[in-house]
Amino acid sequence: MISALASIVVLAASLVSAQTGQTTRYWDCCKPSCAWSAKAAVSAPVRTCDNNQNVLSSPDTKSGCDGGTAYTCANNQPWAVNDQLSYGFAAVKLSGGTESSWCCACYQLTFTSGPASGKQMIVQATNTGGDLGNNHFDLLMPGGGVGIFNGCTSQYGGWNGGAQYGGVSSRAECNNLPAAVRNGCYWRFDWFQNSDNPNVSFKQVACPSALTSISGCTRNDNGSQPQPTQPSGGGGGSTSTSTTSGTTPTQPGGGGSGTAPKYGQCGGIGWTGPTQCESGSTCTKSNDYYSQCL
Ligand SMILES: *[C@@H]1O[C@H](CO)[C@@H](O)[C@H](O)[C@H]1NC(C)=O
Ligand SMILES: *[C@@H]1O[C@H](CO)[C@@H](O)[C@H](O)[C@H]1NC(C)=O
Repeated sequence: MISALASIVVLAASLVSAQTGQTTRYWDCCKPSCAWSAKAAVSAPVRTCDNNQNVLSSPDTKSGCDGGTAYTCANNQPWAVNDQLSYGFAAVKLSGGTESSWCCACYQLTFTSGPASGKQMIVQATNTGGDLGNNHFDLLMPGGGVGIFNGCTSQYGGWNGGAQYGGVSSRAECNNLPAAVRNGCYWRFDWFQNSDNPNVSFKQVACPSALTSISGCTRNDNGSQPQPTQPSGGGGGSTSTSTTSGTTPTQPGGGGSGTAPKYGQCGGIGWTGPTQCESGSTCTKSNDYYSQCL
């Protein structure tokens, strides 16, 4: 009786806590703000990478956008978990908070306008921005436009990422980006259906370990956040039978040699990279365009 009442209270609280917000997109390659020390009560600041994608050991390294050598790691690009759910990272600004309240927190977004309406994305906050409005998620996606700062040219020794605001304008233009970040650019035109700054409803959730294992940052209060809810149609329904077969590994289609890292892409239409996963992970199909080492 008490636990039933408690779960009603929890459910009511989670419904009340859903808020509305807006999104934009960017990929500026700069060191994200939550990568500095002491921004929030977290296990460690967000990882940064040098211009060869090596993770930097010190959180004190200056940003590549400020004469230093710390940049956004290429693996901060978004990916599809299934047709209805993606994971990724974002610069965040919420009303009534500061970085200490959102650095490394995760938010479950439900898109409420545009072609991806109804789909969900779980993002971890790695950055903020003085140019962001309130309840604003600036989604990291390669080729999404560098915005005010451009660290990409120095990180990659050149950058052909389209317009400063908005970035590339077609899937084909993603091929102008460095191979390390092309998949996250394709994601925008595949899973995200080229949505243009859709609105969202959102709530804070416990971070999936798939995100914190990339960022290296977990909030101390992670355990007290609610679990993400399953997207509707994301499994268990009668229509899931046909997609269940999609969880078998993609067969190599004459793909490239080598081994994909855990969480890296390992298959999908148009993929010419490695189709084998590093040991400890298995190539798992997310959708026709994307298989991933999990
Ligand atoms: C997004 O939300 C804002 C604020 O509520 C609203 O003005 C705008 O029309 C919405 N955009 C779309 C595409 O629904
Ligand atoms: C964060 O919390 C969730 C839910 O309790 C858990 O699944 C996840 O492993 C936690 N992350 C870490 C890094 O402890």
